[in-house]
Amino acid sequence: MKVAVVGATGMVGEVMLKVLEERNFPISELLLVASERSVGKKLVYKNEEHTVIGLADAVAAQPDIAIFSAGGDTSLEWAPKFAEAGTTVIDNSSAWRMDPTKKLVVPEINASELTAEDKIIANPNCSTIQMVLALDPLHKKYQMKRVVVSTYQSVSGTGVKAVEQMENEAAGIEGEMAYPYPINRNALPHCDVFLENGYTKEEMKLAREPQKILDDRTFSVTATAVRIPTAGGHSESVNVEFHNDFDLAEVRKLLSETPGIVVQDNPDTNTYPMPVFANGKDDVFVGRIRRDETQPNTLNMWIVADNLRKGAATNAVQIAEYLVENNLVSNNTPEAIS
Ligand SMILES: NC(=O)c1ccc[n+]([C@@H]2O[C@H](COP(=O)([O-])OP(=O)(O)OC[C@H]3O[C@@H](n4cnc5c(N)ncnc54)[C@H](OP(=O)(O)O)[C@@H]3O)[C@@H](O)[C@H]2O)c1
Repeated sequence: MKVAVVGATGMVGEVMLKVLEERNFPISELLLVASERSVGKKLVYKNEEHTVIGLADAVAAQPDIAIFSAGGDTSLEWAPKFAEAGTTVIDNSSAWRMDPTKKLVVPEINASELTAEDKIIANPNCSTIQMVLALDPLHKKYQMKRVVVSTYQSVSGTGVKAVEQMENEAAGIEGEMAYPYPINRNALPHCDVFLENGYTKEEMKLAREPQKILDDRTFSVTATAVRIPTAGGHSESVNVEFHNDFDLAEVRKLLSETPGIVVQDNPDTNTYPMPVFANGKDDVFVGRIRRDETQPNTLNMWIVADNLRKGAATNAVQIAEYLVENNLVSNNTPEAIS
């Protein structure tokens, strides 16, 4: 495959290159793409130097697959241009997620929806992916009614500038601010922009995306998203009310048997998921699994994952792998063949 990584110099882009390499994705030619600021920079993939190019040159090269992690505006403007050139775009931004003509995919759940006609495919929000992976097997068994989620999100979820802000503050250095307030030794109940309804955009992604991924609008999700000064991954406190009652041992079994999930749950040994464990791993970790004793059929759990991996790069590469394995991609436009 001729593959373009758009946003290769960013936080997600860097991990994308690592994940493509680790999983030995079949790449015949790699195009590393970023803004005009970075054109000419050198990046290394599989011990080989690659020069960063601009978007127009990348479109002209007609890659088979372009994985975008370069913000919503870049995706809105450029993903259609790649698609027109015959490229299949997998997009990490929020630009296309709720577009009814685009698929929103967590491969373990709904990759089977994908067809060769899907030229722009959306990767869900990082906080959504880890939550929905744990909710899916439980929903199938007990039928969710309502989910209440509070997130504790890593600064790496905001990008390079936010990690720099936290590091500068910790070192007592004055620098550029990615957030309106200090993040070190703080907690900001503010992820992404505020909307007219008083929620943030991140909270509404958590509320809306699960219904689309699970193709079911019979349950509801309400969210509070909080940024905390961690760098290894996002954590979530998730309270789920089901229509049907459950058995806790069966819940643990269902989760442990779900591909991509690792149950870490033993209060006797202080075993529970934490960002320091999840950092650098592809799995979603679930623990603190317990009954909500205040109302029937309700479960509490704690879900942690590396937002740059399963929350972004790994999920996107898994989509690409599914497309390749199922012969759903190849840029065989006449220009590409010639
Ligand atoms: N961080 C996460 O955990 C996470 C998870 C899921 C999804 N995402 C999404 O992934 C995207 C990237 O996030 P990030 O955290 O990696 O941000 P980041 O560290 O700020 O990196 C942004 C990347 O986009 C490139 N870029 C910016 N403007 C561009 C333009 N006009 N044309 C071409 N390239 C441009 C940047 O290139 P330069 O270096 O040249 O500026 C850089 O490579 C965002 O859409 C974000 O919502 C992030």
